[in-house]
Amino acid sequence: MPRAVRFSHYGGPEVLEIVDVPELHPGPGEVRIAVRAAGVNPYDWKVRRGLMAGGAAAPDGPQGLGSDLAGVVDQVGADVTAFAVGDEVLGSGSSPSYAEQALAKPADLVARPADLPWPIAGGISGTGRTAYRTLTQLGVAGGETLLVHGAAGGVGFVAVQLAVARGVRVVGAASERHHERLRSVGVVPVAYGDGLEDRVRTAAPDGVDAVLDATGHGVLGLSVRLAGGPDRVITIADGAAAEHGVRFSSGDEGVDMSGALAGIVALIATGELEVPIARTHPLDAVADAHRESESGHAGGKLVLLP
Ligand SMILES: NC(=O)c1ccc[n+]([C@@H]2O[C@H](COP(=O)([O-])OP(=O)(O)OC[C@H]3O[C@@H](n4cnc5c(N)ncnc54)[C@H](OP(=O)(O)O)[C@@H]3O)[C@@H](O)[C@H]2O)c1
Repeated sequence: MPRAVRFSHYGGPEVLEIVDVPELHPGPGEVRIAVRAAGVNPYDWKVRRGLMAGGAAAPDGPQGLGSDLAGVVDQVGADVTAFAVGDEVLGSGSSPSYAEQALAKPADLVARPADLPWPIAGGISGTGRTAYRTLTQLGVAGGETLLVHGAAGGVGFVAVQLAVARGVRVVGAASERHHERLRSVGVVPVAYGDGLEDRVRTAAPDGVDAVLDATGHGVLGLSVRLAGGPDRVITIADGAAAEHGVRFSSGDEGVDMSGALAGIVALIATGELEVPIARTHPLDAVADAHRESESGHAGGKLVLLP
């Protein structure tokens, strides 16, 4: 039987278990994937903690985790023509991806370029799509100045590189240990914390046109001041968005995402977009991966290798 991560109580990383689960079989319009890599995202530990449960005290039953994946198609359901058994793919699953097997819909997958390392392949879907979507929602264009909070995080580091590639001047707030990495991709780094607003004004004397908050660490007030209003400020992580008149982006919301993941993968394959991997872990060490993600400072993608 394939192995998978499950939890039956909300709580700390210790609630995560590795269990044997029944084999999956794809329904019409689905494929089954032998998972080689599954990205760990902050959303996953928020689910594990019960923060996404709308107040429910416990899950209905044993619950899986994870969406990002990469692996090899090993069964194909009826009506699937885009992929065949043996194809190497990456994207997001329609069943939990912290597992040796997962199901996925072809529209959520792209082919893995032959030399793309499995950890990068398995860790790029969620952050890449979120970065693409939020830049599109902000409408940033060449010649403008964008401030990104969390510029060295999973979402932030993809967003800053996509923006620089579009000719946008980017100021990125991050821990100082990431400043050299940010400079190397054309970002002007600033340290977060007290005095951030002044540091951004110094780094961008002509002002900031748009702001992406990829941290949720109480930066919306200063972001609205820097951008001259809330219209071009977006957060993906701050529940206080409405108090500041700022948009909370949680879904694709009218953005044409067709081709987004394929475009990002192509940029990675040609070396134009960098995806640092902080650490990989076997499935058995999923609790360690969650502890590192929950620290908020993993410094790159965390990826399970089932
Ligand atoms: N709404 C959506 O659709 C959506 C989608 C994806 C992610 N998210 C959310 O967006 C957030 C970021 O996701 P991610 O995958 O990029 O996470 P991540 O890779 O863990 O990155 C976390 C980022 O937060 C920064 N950070 C940590 N403590 C901070 C502090 N006190 N002040 C300022 N920045 C701080 C880190 O900076 P340093 O490493 O430089 O310290 C890092 O850049 C998470 O809350 C996640 O749940 C939402």
